Amino acid sequence: MASIAVYSVKGGVGKTTLAVNLAWAAASISRRRTLLWDLDASNGSGFLLGVDAGRKRSADSMFGEKSDPAKLIRPTAYPGLDLLPADESIRDLDRQLDRLGKKKRVAKLTEALGKTYDRIIFDCPPVLNELSAQIMRAADLVIVPLPPSPLSARAFEAVVEEVRGSGKGHPPILPVLSMLDLRRSLHKAAREANPTWPAIPLASAVEQCAVERRPVGAFAPRSPAARAIAQLWTAIEKKLAGKQG
Ligand SMILES: Nc1ncnc2c1ncn2[C@@H]1O[C@H](COP(=O)(O)OP(=O)(O)O)[C@@H](O)[C@H]1O
Ligand SMILES: [Mg+2]
Repeated sequence: MASIAVYSVKGGVGKTTLAVNLAWAAASISRRRTLLWDLDASNGSGFLLGVDAGRKRSADSMFGEKSDPAKLIRPTAYPGLDLLPADESIRDLDRQLDRLGKKKRVAKLTEALGKTYDRIIFDCPPVLNELSAQIMRAADLVIVPLPPSPLSARAFEAVVEEVRGSGKGHPPILPVLSMLDLRRSLHKAAREANPTWPAIPLASAVEQCAVERRPVGAFAPRSPAARAIAQLWTAIEKKLAGKQG
């Protein structure tokens, strides 16, 4: 099993969109048994996958001592892809984890879920706290979506610094230019300044995910965006293989 966090301290950079589409790619392209774990209270990933939030539950029920998050897992319309949804109660999660005093709670839960899944993808909230520190301890790889700008590289360094500051070691961190529009000169400059970074194009097909409530690959498989997502997923699998092998 390998776990991948899609993370940034910023909101609106494309984390949820990327997490959902990568999870779909893991299940549909790589045929991995995949779990998308939504750790953001807005339940964005559930929405984008067409899975509605279930009954309100307390965050204790997932993170408490005797809890079993597996009971909260919901199937999606896609073979091999399940969702562990978030809801309002997860807002208090950071404090709950603090109170619990177990630094590896998320890592332990992830490990247990790894008996059932090959790939676990975290859709992270834009926070820097005990929860994000726990996610960094649990993840094998961290994907950081960055809107292209002359400051992309510095924005990435800032995230790396923050991750470093939140714990001793941290997993490898992969920057991704999200929402790249090469007709814009600043985006082009950002692309040229970071030629090796994977990129996802700014595309209406990606925006449409929120209308279709489906991943791009499910309704526009031949679009450049779907191809970019597939390519990124392949690069992620390569990185994971290099790490394990
Ligand atoms: N590649 C893209 N092209 C066009 N719109 C995008 C792209 N990626 C994300 N978006 C849009 O940007 C907004 C924020 O994305 P979201 O994934 O919710 O970000 P976050 O989870 O970081 O807050 C959404 O409206 C989404 O549809
Ligand atoms: Mg989000």
